[in-house]
This record gives sequence, structure tokens and C-alpha cells, in this order.
Amino acid sequence: MKPDAIYASPLDEIVDFQFDDKVASVFPDMIKRSVPGYSTVIATTGVLAKRYFSRDSRIYDLGCSLGAATLTMRKALQGEQGEIIAVDNSASMIERAKALVAQDSADFPLHFQRADICDIEIKNASMVVLNYTLQFIPPAQRQGLIDTIFQGLRPGGILVLSEKIAFDDAHKQSLFIDLHHSFKKANGYSELEISQKRQAIDNVLTPETIPQHRQRLIQAGFSSADVWFQCFNFASLLAVK
Ligand SMILES: C[S@@+](CC[C@H](N)C(=O)[O-])C[C@H]1O[C@@H](n2cnc3c(N)ncnc32)[C@H](O)[C@@H]1O
Repeated sequence: MKPDAIYASPLDEIVDFQFDDKVASVFPDMIKRSVPGYSTVIATTGVLAKRYFSRDSRIYDLGCSLGAATLTMRKALQGEQGEIIAVDNSASMIERAKALVAQDSADFPLHFQRADICDIEIKNASMVVLNYTLQFIPPAQRQGLIDTIFQGLRPGGILVLSEKIAFDDAHKQSLFIDLHHSFKKANGYSELEISQKRQAIDNVLTPETIPQHRQRLIQAGFSSADVWFQCFNFASLLAVK
């Protein structure tokens, strides 16, 4: 795993964070050291796929990056009949994900699509995974995307929604941001790296509160939407149609 040192040296200008080739090349290390609970969320995605996948249906992995969730679900669904559609709008991510899949021995059908997840058609899905990606979609487009996902799911199908979250309570907000920074420091990031990355990402990542997410999911029509995992300001919800 190539170590993430993108923000390790002082930068003259801090440009908005992008999922370009520089980020894609260090992404497994970056996400593991930056997102508390990431490996639990990925492993549980496989457990949920095993439970909720229904024969001849599709699973969508929206904002698939290098396909961590996709590869885990594929392994869990060995011998089943259906397909995974893994979507990302970053050419570097899709290219690298395809190379990783080429080394994977699982046989569950998988198709990559390079597209904006707000423009794709979703149909015949038993499960949709939206891991740490809704936060990059402009807030005004989020309800439309969740509505499209709901409509494309089979009855009883699920959406796994994992996000960085915000808090209405100012004390909780600063406490969890602080704890997240301690997590990053414990994982070897310097103060400079943490602060430069924060400047780069703050303009492009808009976190919302759990009540905002739940309200949107219920408005779309989901019969339930519950937090199944949270560590500091990172949470994952399970919404059932
Ligand atoms: C934080 S990463 C997601 C991590 C990934 N789901 C995982 O579990 O490893 C966000 C991904 O969403 C992609 N992305 C952001 N906005 C997108 C959009 N509008 N359409 C498609 N992909 C998008 C980025 O290219 C990036 O690969």
C-alpha cells in the first residue's frame, strides 16, 4: 500500500481536493488512516450483501473508488446469480479499480461505469451502497439522488449510506472533530497534513446531521433508516425499502 504523503510538505497554494491520479494512487492508505471504522463498514457491506441480495438482482456501488466494497460483496456472493454495477466519475479510480479486479478470483458478475452518480439509471436493485460519497454531491441534488435510488430498489431492498456527519450541538461538533484529528494523528498524520487536507476538502465535502439524512431517506419512501455504526463524526445508516 503506497503511503499517503500528499499534504506532508508545505504547499504554496491549497487547491480543492479532487479524486485525481495522485489521490487514487494512495487511496487505500488515505482512507484507512482518515476514516474511523472504514474497515468495519467495508466488511459489514459484505455481510449485508449476503443477507439482502436477491437472485437476479443488481447491487450498485455508487462512488466505488478502488472497489473496496465491491470486492467484499463479490466475495460474499460467490455462486449467486446477479450483477454488481460499480460507478465512479474519476477515470483514475475506475482504471485502478479494474486493475485490482483483474487480480480477483471471485466470479460474481461485475461491471464498472464511469459516470456521475446523479445521471445514472438505477433499476432492479436489491442493494445500493453509497459509502462516503453523498457528502461530495451538492446538497441541492441529494434528495433527487436518494429518490432515484429508492425507486430503483426492489421492495425489501436496502441502501447502505456511510458519511462524515455534522452535529447541531456546537460542543459535540467540536468534540468529534477534535477526536477525529486525534485519530488521524494516532495514524501518523502531522498537524500540517491534517490542516492542509482540511483546507483542501472543506470546500468540496458538506457533511450533514443524522436527522437530515434520516429525514431525506424517509421522505424518499424508505420504511426505516437507522444508524448501525458510528465512530466520532463518521456514521453508516441502513435504510430499508
Ligand atoms: C471517499 S470516496 C468513496 C470511497 C468508496 N466508496 C470506498 O468505500 O472505498 C468518494 C468517491 O466518490 C467519487 N465521486 C464523487 N462525486 C461523484 C459523482 N458525482 N459521481 C460519481 N462518483 C463521484 C469520487 O471519485 C471518489 O472515488
